[in-house]
Amino acid sequence: MEKVPAAPMPSFPEDLDGLERFVLACQACSLSETRNQVVFGEGRGTSGLMFVGEGPGADEDRTGRPFVGRAGELLTKMIQAMGLSREEVYIANTVKCRPPGNRVPSPEERKACFPFLEAQIRLLKPKYMILLGQTAAQVVLRQSAGITRIRGTCCELPEYPGIKIMPTYHPAYLLRNPSAKRDVWSDLQTVMGWMGLSRSGEKEGK
Ligand code: URA
Repeated sequence: MEKVPAAPMPSFPEDLDGLERFVLACQACSLSETRNQVVFGEGRGTSGLMFVGEGPGADEDRTGRPFVGRAGELLTKMIQAMGLSREEVYIANTVKCRPPGNRVPSPEERKACFPFLEAQIRLLKPKYMILLGQTAAQVVLRQSAGITRIRGTCCELPEYPGIKIMPTYHPAYLLRNPSAKRDVWSDLQTVMGWMGLSRSGEKEGK
């Protein structure tokens, strides 16, 4: 039987600023009809750490910045507890436009937006990724397991060679279930161990 050639990878600009301009004009799914702003992602990522959340909420849709609402405040505290600043990490989402009513992004929306997240990962070349919540874990790890089962388990995937990946709970979940903060702190400490960060934020051995 004749082999069907693989679909060509969409070609995107080969730098983050160019990619952002490209994504700002995206109309690949119906979220583009209801969004106020595209939330591309932000941070310099100089620490080598990238966070992936689910998708923008109302505050993010209004400002064009990821994780600026209540869940974002908690994420900022988590980053600071690791001894890092928001500037030093990179923060992105599985979808770049707000799903109306903050619903979970549909399979079609995730699929339409995934090439942008993949391009962000390829261009940033993070060494570590923290996946915040079930949607991010399902999209990035391409599996359907519940976050409760897989959180805290380090993964490395052939698609992302050299990147250590940690799935954990989403900060919005922690706002509803503060007792889960203990698990998340344990996951963050594992990542800090990978990064050679002590609890004071110093690089160990300094
Ligand atoms: N929740 C997310 O998953 N991402 C955001 O940017 C904000 C809230």
